[in-house]
Amino acid sequence: MSPDDPLVLFMPSGKRGRFAKGTTVLDAARQLGVYVESVCGGRATCGRCQIEVQEGQFAKHKISSAADHLSAVGPKEARYAEKRTLAAGRRLSCSATIEGDLVIDVPQDTVINAQVVRKDADTRVIERFPAVQLCYVEVEEPDMHKPLGDLDRLKAALQSDWDFGRLEVDAHLLPLVQKILREGKWAVTAAVHQDDETEAARIIALWPGLKNEAYGLACDIGSTTIAMHLVSLLSGRVVASSGASNPQIRFGEDLMSRVSYVMMNPDGREAMTRAVRQEISRLVQKVADEGGIERLDILDSVFVANPIMHHLFLGVDPTELGGAPFALAVSGAVRMKADDLRLKLNPGARTYLLPCIAGHVGADAAAVTLSEGPHRQDRMMLIVDVGTNAEIVLGNRKRVVAASSPTGPAFEGAEISAGQRAAPGAIERVRIDRETLEPRYRVIGCELWSDDPGFAEAVGATGVTGICGSGIIEIIAEMYLSGIISEDGVIDGNLADRSPRIVADGRTFSYVLAETEPRLTITQNDVRAIQLAKAALYAGTRLLMEKQGVETVDVIRFAGAFGSFIDPQFAMVLGLIPDCELDNVSAVGNAAGTGARMALLNRNHRREIEETVRRIEKIETALEPKFQEHFVNAMALPNKVDAFPKLAAQVMLPPRAMQGGDGDGAGDAGRPRRRSREERAARRRRP
Ligand code: FES
Repeated sequence: MSPDDPLVLFMPSGKRGRFAKGTTVLDAARQLGVYVESVCGGRATCGRCQIEVQEGQFAKHKISSAADHLSAVGPKEARYAEKRTLAAGRRLSCSATIEGDLVIDVPQDTVINAQVVRKDADTRVIERFPAVQLCYVEVEEPDMHKPLGDLDRLKAALQSDWDFGRLEVDAHLLPLVQKILREGKWAVTAAVHQDDETEAARIIALWPGLKNEAYGLACDIGSTTIAMHLVSLLSGRVVASSGASNPQIRFGEDLMSRVSYVMMNPDGREAMTRAVRQEISRLVQKVADEGGIERLDILDSVFVANPIMHHLFLGVDPTELGGAPFALAVSGAVRMKADDLRLKLNPGARTYLLPCIAGHVGADAAAVTLSEGPHRQDRMMLIVDVGTNAEIVLGNRKRVVAASSPTGPAFEGAEISAGQRAAPGAIERVRIDRETLEPRYRVIGCELWSDDPGFAEAVGATGVTGICGSGIIEIIAEMYLSGIISEDGVIDGNLADRSPRIVADGRTFSYVLAETEPRLTITQNDVRAIQLAKAALYAGTRLLMEKQGVETVDVIRFAGAFGSFIDPQFAMVLGLIPDCELDNVSAVGNAAGTGARMALLNRNHRREIEETVRRIEKIETALEPKFQEHFVNAMALPNKVDAFPKLAAQVMLPPRAMQGGDGDGAGDAGRPRRRSREERAARRRRP
């Protein structure tokens, strides 16, 4: 290569290099480590290697790029375009050669056999470098004078055409090789699995002729729901997505009750493993049907889950995770054949489970970390995945720490008198008039507010049935902002004179949110349950901030379904999360699913998260002496000691009655008794 050779820049990777004229673009990409798909090995038949030239002056790179800096369309490429159509501007990189400076775009959405793009999956573009690759080869016919077996000649062809080093073959293919080679008239497509360069590549599936599509699964096994994406391993497109309730709910609503079930029932572990695998198998069929593909075309799969779901899926008894020291049977990434998990995919299909971070912080948190990438950037990023156990990750490029906090199920609507899961009819948004203390609300499944004309008719079918997690956050924040509850969470009975919404309820008071049948109220116990949950979450976060030596965080990401619906402003008013610029707080939806897709589509992401998890420092909240102090401070709204100046700049917060952390502030005659109860609660709620 000389300095006069054409300069080629590949986008979006930004990799560049000089190449002699006449080099194919595919070869240039390979030399630079830019991933360009190819199944037919450059025969211009699969159409997977498409690229586009970006034309124009790229001053920053000193490149003047033009379409005619590629060779003219040759006969092979023309034949492909004629038979299969090639969109305007697209070229086959295995045929087009470099003749001048170029900026080459490698489309990450190659539209061969394009299926419907799913809107519900994150539309993020993931650079592809999958562990399973389709490789078309033409194998030498048998020759009496060269007694090399059919499989050995297949291997030799794969090694010479596709540059594999050590190559092995799955045992289930041995009886099939001869038939497939003859059926394909000595032309076959092999699926070759290589997760890690240091290991031998393996032929895991074989088809006669050219096979031009292969799929993978990315699946997040949550304790409540299971979400699955079917993804093209070649184009990276999500072709179908589906979700289902985790059938293990019938054995126990939350994680600990499922562990108890295993402990109490001799066949409990088997029953739960069978239940989750059956549901996953049903989902596989569902996404395959929706994507119009055969299960046999699924060659790889990635699963993420919290530690208990992870163990039950693998068939491992999770009892050890039920108590200190919360020992995982396996914490590192798990690689196995999908068949070992009774997943009915292609017989050679592989499975990869991301590593678990700790006994309470699972492969799902690892996937969220991979997706959001605190370790890839400089700002101090807080990631919170709220469930019955909140998983918390805090860090940046230099250092990442993680913990889990026992929030309990209050955020999911359990433990709340009018609480329910997020479903049509559940109140999800609430506003309270600061003067009249009258509420207005919206329910899931209806765009109207409760004081809009036509609301009653619009919700007629479902009615107003309860309050879901995001609604609870909003109502308690709004009750605080309207002065209905004090900063220590007490519903002010004096307001009963001012508003019929405040009603006596034994020795405490309640707020009537909706005069439905039955009527929906927020009781003092409800407020307390949310205080306990948010205090647990905040105390965990605060411990991580202390470990990092920071007083504020730069960015907050809410992961998970619950996080997608809560309004960051209300979450901050409650003191669920630390003070932060509201613009830097966002929900990232099913980030665990996105992390799973990244690991499915690019094996380098597997190495990235394995390395990151090794570096993440795990903080065990149960062992931290300051957890209790942070917990007690965080019982106040938003917090007894921590200031929220950024929030206060945007939201009118009630004046603070209490100052300092010594508990001697004004207006809290009952505090000594309350505090001891909180302390007991803090101790009880430790994992
Ligand atoms: Fe198959 Fe180019 S590599 S068409």
